Amino acid sequence: MSSLRDTHTGLDSPKGTWWVPAHRTEKTWVAIAFAWCMVLFAMMPLWHYKGGQNPAGIRGTVDPKAYMKRTMEFTAAYKVGEDHGIPIVEPPVGSDIYLAAMTYQWTPILKLRQGAQYTLHISSLDVNHGFSLYPLNVNFQIIPGYDYGLRVTPTEAGDFRILCNEFCGIGHHTMLGRVIVTDPSGKEVTQNDAARVLTAREEVRP
Ligand code: CUA
Repeated sequence: MSSLRDTHTGLDSPKGTWWVPAHRTEKTWVAIAFAWCMVLFAMMPLWHYKGGQNPAGIRGTVDPKAYMKRTMEFTAAYKVGEDHGIPIVEPPVGSDIYLAAMTYQWTPILKLRQGAQYTLHISSLDVNHGFSLYPLNVNFQIIPGYDYGLRVTPTEAGDFRILCNEFCGIGHHTMLGRVIVTDPSGKEVTQNDAARVLTAREEVRP
């Protein structure tokens, strides 16, 4: 028993001045850290309303097969051309438009009009993918089984690329899509620099 008593158990305070009241400097820093936490906490709801970067709040569960069917109907109704076998679709201004992500492509190619608002539905037919619109700072995670409706208004005419930014398999790096934005009269503008860079990248695809 005596040997147990000699052992420090953690229940007894160690000897010496191991504990002293917090110094004023320490208290100040804890107060600063706490105040900053409160600022960040307040920014979450504030930015939701003021940030202008949040999804429209339209979302629901969807059967991937039903989503594919809807996308194919949409494609058949407004198809205006093809690029490397991927249909180009020019939907009416203001309508609901559909984009499907699958390993390893985006379909269809959307041809939109500058200044017009659309409700862009996005879903995945298989695994998680990431929607990013090059060269803009747009980023959205796409999960199978969910239909997200994003209210989008293209502000710039040009030829844009969709990159998958979520690792989805061996062909992830080849998962490129395309969005064409015409000028407000419906005319295609000459390719912007971003498109030229990415077209070059597409040409080196396996
Ligand atoms: Cu799809 Cu990475």
